[in-house]
Amino acid sequence: MSIERKLLDLKKRKEAAYKGGGEARIEKQHKKGKLTARERLEILLDEGSFEEFDVLKVHRCTNFGLENNKIAGDGIVTGFGTIDGRPVYVFSQDFTVLGGSLSETFAEKIVKVMEMSAKSGIPLIGLNDSGGARIQEGIESLAGYADIFLRNVMYSGVVPQISAIMGPCAGGAVYSPAITDFIFMVKKSSYMFLTGPKVVKTVLNEDVSTEDLGGASIHSTKSGIAHFVYESDEEVLLQIRRLMSFLPLNNKEKTPLKKTNDAVDRIEPTLNKIVPSDPNKPYDIKEVINLIVDDNDFLEVQPLYATNIVIGFARFNGRSVGIVANQPKSLAGTLDISSSEKAARFVRFCDAFNIPLVTLEDVPGFLPGTKQEYGGIIKCGAKLLYAFAEATVPKITIILRKAYGGAYCVMSSKHIRGDINYAWPSAEIAVMGPKGAVEIIFAKEIMKADNRDEAAAKFEKEYRDKFANPYSAALRGYIEDVIEPKYTRFKIIKALEILKNKEDSNPMKKHGNIPL
Ligand code: HXC
Repeated sequence: MSIERKLLDLKKRKEAAYKGGGEARIEKQHKKGKLTARERLEILLDEGSFEEFDVLKVHRCTNFGLENNKIAGDGIVTGFGTIDGRPVYVFSQDFTVLGGSLSETFAEKIVKVMEMSAKSGIPLIGLNDSGGARIQEGIESLAGYADIFLRNVMYSGVVPQISAIMGPCAGGAVYSPAITDFIFMVKKSSYMFLTGPKVVKTVLNEDVSTEDLGGASIHSTKSGIAHFVYESDEEVLLQIRRLMSFLPLNNKEKTPLKKTNDAVDRIEPTLNKIVPSDPNKPYDIKEVINLIVDDNDFLEVQPLYATNIVIGFARFNGRSVGIVANQPKSLAGTLDISSSEKAARFVRFCDAFNIPLVTLEDVPGFLPGTKQEYGGIIKCGAKLLYAFAEATVPKITIILRKAYGGAYCVMSSKHIRGDINYAWPSAEIAVMGPKGAVEIIFAKEIMKADNRDEAAAKFEKEYRDKFANPYSAALRGYIEDVIEPKYTRFKIIKALEILKNKEDSNPMKKHGNIPL
């Protein structure tokens, strides 16, 4: 065969693969408002950067006529490319080929890019759009899933693993995304659940729609499974690019730097007045975050779930940090089961990938009550304590207002290796809030008083004057300094700079036993 014919043959083979399941199925995909696997990669990756692997690979199944239904690539597009010039490995499931269902071959293609990403220290991004295990293959496809799960676990904390759910994701298939670091979902066109509405009806006689069982709105508000939810495929892909800009490529790299013109010593007088003088009055911690970070650029993670804690990525003088902040506007900023778990996982992600932690604290304590106790707040609060305590990245804490009780200890306090801890003059650092405290220590005196309310108010004032300030903590060196709020940005930048080469370690062990 002449070289011309060989080249033509190669072109034909590749063109066939690029068509996936064919025009009709591509049109069906578009009609659902979804892009194809290849169109998605075009948006996700820098133009012209994609290099594909195994484009000609086909399945080996001979059941139920599948031997006559082989499409090059087998319903999954894999390879590598760049995002803002930085490398990533990718896979993108092609729903137009047998519903993006996972065969043995399909799994082998994913496993290949997973292994290559871990060996080279390059993040892995998976775009999921699949009807699950390829039913015609049976057990081989289950084995393929397990091969993927194992690598998700092995490479957790080695390279960032990101999942986008852009169509169906059901049954055991949800476990690969669940193990990865961040899950993106597309509103209305994606869903994740273990058992679908039909099984729910059979087993529990409950009527529930696909959307109400596992749609993006449920997972972004009720379950907390989805970290980011956006309107369209395109928006999800662009936001993955944004997230990647905050992350290092692997666990050995430092966080990336992004040039900024935002002055390091920018003074924000608004901060001096942002905390209301009434300790029971809320304010929005996100205003504080936006005022101190570079260019108002804060990428919030799980913004609609457990809103009493705010987590996300930002930069100070170009350097990425993870921010953990109590939100006084929601449940008074108390720590409960969901917010503790939400923050704990984020702290562990940042620690695994050398991203410094900036904690903004205004926490009246843990949320009381039977619902929380029965649900295991002890164990869940302990997760956050554990995560902050074991983290060895630079840890900077600013106490804005309340820092009471166990929650004071948990929120990256000095005692669990906070590196540089500052407080604003509005800080109240004590064992418990004034009202609760006087009801216990002055119970007898209040009972005996002619006017109990007056007596309680007097003792409350006494307690407040003594403890509801940052100075008892400053006297003992539990905070480095009491700072004027308007200088907070500059103080954090200087702290990050001095901690740049900080090294700390934990005792040798196989692994700890975080209270799961
Ligand atoms: C093989 C599949 C398939 C599958 C879909 N297809 N799912 N082929 N194995 N799992 C094929 C269809 O036959 C069809 O082929 C094409 O993909 C598109 O499917 P449609 O049904 O036409 O699409 P749609 O109406 O959008 O419905 C999508 C769907 C539905 C909701 C995902 O296809 C569906 O329910 N599929 C089965 C889901 C499932 O039960 N999977 C196994 C779960 S068990 P043609 O040729 O007509 O285009 C599992 C275990 C994993 O996954 C365990 C891991 C540990």
